[in-house]
Amino acid sequence: MNRALRKAYLQALQIDSWVLRGAPAMPQRIEPRPAEQWSALMRGVETCERCDLCKTRTRTVFGVGDRRAEWFVVGEAPGADEDRQGEPFVGRAGQLLNAMLRAIDLEREQVFIANVLKCRPPGNRDPLQSEIAACLPHLERQIALVRPKILLVVGRIAAHALLRTDAPLARLRQKTHRFGEAAVPLVVTYHPAYLLRTPTDKRRAWEDLKFAREVLAGG
Ligand code: URA
Repeated sequence: MNRALRKAYLQALQIDSWVLRGAPAMPQRIEPRPAEQWSALMRGVETCERCDLCKTRTRTVFGVGDRRAEWFVVGEAPGADEDRQGEPFVGRAGQLLNAMLRAIDLEREQVFIANVLKCRPPGNRDPLQSEIAACLPHLERQIALVRPKILLVVGRIAAHALLRTDAPLARLRQKTHRFGEAAVPLVVTYHPAYLLRTPTDKRRAWEDLKFAREVLAGG
């Protein structure tokens, strides 16, 4: 094609010739790879001093499980066993949580489990609002990285922290809430430690687990 013809052709197409020659590369924002994002987040939690719980903790409790899980379980805060071992839900409540998951055909390793607080409140007292506010960004980042299909939130304190409400747990159960920008479906149920004290509510917890499974299935 001679030059005049090529120019007319490009004009007709409204394309500058530099497009055809290859446009200069646009400056790109280089996103760290997922493994690097996880490492940065883990380091951030390990070294966190955003609240005074860093002074009394034995270990931080980051969270465990499948980083690509469909189910993301959110608890309240580490207890004594978790503080010693650095893993969430390893005590008696953890045993019951595992059984609850198994009841809906899930092994612990198939889900991701993390708490609202990454450090143990001394004497297992309730978390302070200031501690929740300081720690929540860690959990939000975990949820953003896992991109779960459902959040199963166990207990009043975790539910209040994520849903920014103080409604009684009975009013939060059996509903599909949404969390964050991605509007991840969120279902609330009883905390396993509560169920150890009140086994008669296990039947209601079973209803909640079935409900969560239906939510995930889109039903
Ligand atoms: N209770 C929680 O909420 N989280 C744990 O990790 C253990 C007990």
